[in-house]
Amino acid sequence: MSDEHSHIHISAVGSYVSERVVTNSELASLVDTSDEWIYSHTGIRERRWAEGETTFTMAYFAVQDLLKRYSIHIDAIVCATASPDYPGFPSVASQLSERLGSRGPALDVSAGCTGFIYALEVGRSMISSGLATNALVVGSEKLSPLLDMEDRSTCVLFGDGAAALLLERSEEARWLKSYIKSEGGGASSLAIDPLRRAIMMDGRSVYTFAVSAIAETIDALLERNNLTISAIDWIVPHQANQRIIAACAKRYAIAEEKFYMNIERYANTSAASIPLALAEMERSGLLQSGQKIILVGFGAGLTYGGTVLVWK
Ligand code: UT7
Repeated sequence: MSDEHSHIHISAVGSYVSERVVTNSELASLVDTSDEWIYSHTGIRERRWAEGETTFTMAYFAVQDLLKRYSIHIDAIVCATASPDYPGFPSVASQLSERLGSRGPALDVSAGCTGFIYALEVGRSMISSGLATNALVVGSEKLSPLLDMEDRSTCVLFGDGAAALLLERSEEARWLKSYIKSEGGGASSLAIDPLRRAIMMDGRSVYTFAVSAIAETIDALLERNNLTISAIDWIVPHQANQRIIAACAKRYAIAEEKFYMNIERYANTSAASIPLALAEMERSGLLQSGQKIILVGFGAGLTYGGTVLVWK
């Protein structure tokens, strides 16, 4: 891999979630479910549902949080979202570009819950090809209006949130080789029904896909980068189900603690889940310079993939 592609790092992070907490018990008053079922089948205790906010406003608040800590003029903007406010234009990235007064490339990426992994690669390519001096990569989702409250097997799973990472050139190689794939044959197992505007999922088949997609991605990342699992300090997976991660950890004999999970508090926030986790880890001091981190995503498309970062 060329220096242009590997000498890029994450220089700043920011995040935003609504203050409105929806607990499992509150859901149980609306739907035939229980805290016990939801927690034991998914690891979720509560989620945020953003009221009076849009995918764009949440993205903007996450970016403001980043810029509060690290003031810089933004060049490229890439936003991963499965829940844009408008089905066409303006994209969330264009709205951010307007608000931030940036002139670099701006686009949304739609690859379901793997969207952030795809978006990172787009942002990285914009820098490595010389198209941009830096790239803001955002994951923002307002999934709560897309829930079918008659379908208890999906409406308990999702939450809203946003997070942003800034990519800049680095002196040293900070970003290793990625692995990104899709499996179009499974596209209809996880989709937004275009007429009802509601998420539909065949949970069982997506579960089976997820476990093998994570395993394949971790294997490929280790092989491509000539690493062993013991060299990895953290694995930050898309937060879809604690049991999926427990199954992967068991299969690999990896300590479950190596996987960072916050699904308990935010549920599945699709393309926002990986950056939300990274922002939280950074804030709580879990990330140390030089640590190697695998990010791994999987979801609608079906899409999956991951990357390996060396923390700044
Ligand atoms: O982010 C994109 C990727 N998404 C995923 O990776 C999600 C993957 N899938 C999953 O995480 C799991 O399949 C679910 C959490 C969605 C479902 O868990 P499960 O263990 O596969 O449950 P199931 O769908 O097989 O349902 C088992 C039982 C059923 O009852 P019967 O038919 O056995 O009587 C369901 O009706 O659980 C019932 N059930 C519920 N009961 C109480 C389903 N949802 C609920 C609920 N509360 N919310």
